[in-house]
Amino acid sequence: MNLPITRREFLNSTSAASAAAAMGHTLLNAPAANAQTGGQPKPVVIASSNGLQATAKAMSMIQQGADALDAVIAGVNLVEDDPNENSVGLGGLPNEDGVVELDSSVMHGPTGRGGSVAALRNIRNPSKVARLVMERTDHVLIVGEGALRFAKAHGFKEEDLLTEESREAWLKWKENLSRTDDWLPPHDIETRNISMGLQSALRNHGTINCNAIDLRGGISGCTTTSGLSFKIPGRVGDSPILGAGLYVDNEVGAAGSTGRGEANLLACSSVMVVEYMRQGNSPEQACLLACQRIVAQTKMKRLLDDQGRPKFNVNFYAINKRGEFGAAAIWSGEKFTVNTGEKESRRLDGAFLFKRNP
Ligand code: GLY
Repeated sequence: MNLPITRREFLNSTSAASAAAAMGHTLLNAPAANAQTGGQPKPVVIASSNGLQATAKAMSMIQQGADALDAVIAGVNLVEDDPNENSVGLGGLPNEDGVVELDSSVMHGPTGRGGSVAALRNIRNPSKVARLVMERTDHVLIVGEGALRFAKAHGFKEEDLLTEESREAWLKWKENLSRTDDWLPPHDIETRNISMGLQSALRNHGTINCNAIDLRGGISGCTTTSGLSFKIPGRVGDSPILGAGLYVDNEVGAAGSTGRGEANLLACSSVMVVEYMRQGNSPEQACLLACQRIVAQTKMKRLLDDQGRPKFNVNFYAINKRGEFGAAAIWSGEKFTVNTGEKESRRLDGAFLFKRNP
């Protein structure tokens, strides 16, 4: 099932359908291998590879009758609160000034609402603040100092989110700064010899995305992150941007992402995953199509390898209304986590476009 597609094969294809055929996928109306059977949609929780605990927590709440949004936020809070998880919340890797800045979004399918925060400092649970933006304001996105003031107005306590481990990782980066920051000299589409492209691709874009269907068929999702490690202060990735890092449509399903946020911001891919599912594609096929769109969108040579493939990775995770789920990435080797309520959370291999060299 996980057959790689070369960039040449992809670029030669005249449509998404022919590209998918080249991968061995049939796009339209194909039953997903992981479809859950039965008349009523069963609850399911999917998350990125760091979501074993989060999916288990969310499913346990859903089985007790919780709304999917309550469940996914409680799930990702476990990861935000974990000082040893360096991509989210407490202990997240900081910006280039050594300050942790967090981004998060939530979407609640049954009410068609969403909320997000970006570049939020000193508050370990940005997902809870994103939810309050949704529920207690007439806005959708609040950033920076305003987001911090909003969180404090709702009783959140400021704290230093740097741990000894993340501070030492930042100091090491700072002391070796010259080739790995995000500042670029003037360059054009043909320029390859800028070290940032590769170095940034290898830096931490860690994030957790978690999406769920509850017992009433309500679909919700949440994405939360400390973003690209050692980023330029104020940099915002895809995670808090509805349509990019997360999208939910209660009539169709939910999708979210991890990986290089800049690439996903340029393609707005989570809403595309949902739209691909609306057209009849399985969650996995929809995720693969979104990956292909990012590949097609990436034209700057500094971001491409010598075969014209992106040097970076982006991952998508999706569920549909029927309880089918799937995940895919541009590059092989990525996993996702899922809990269907029948057994413990599992970590599974996602589909991919390109196979990494061993
Ligand atoms: N996808 C997370 C980020 O790039 O910030």
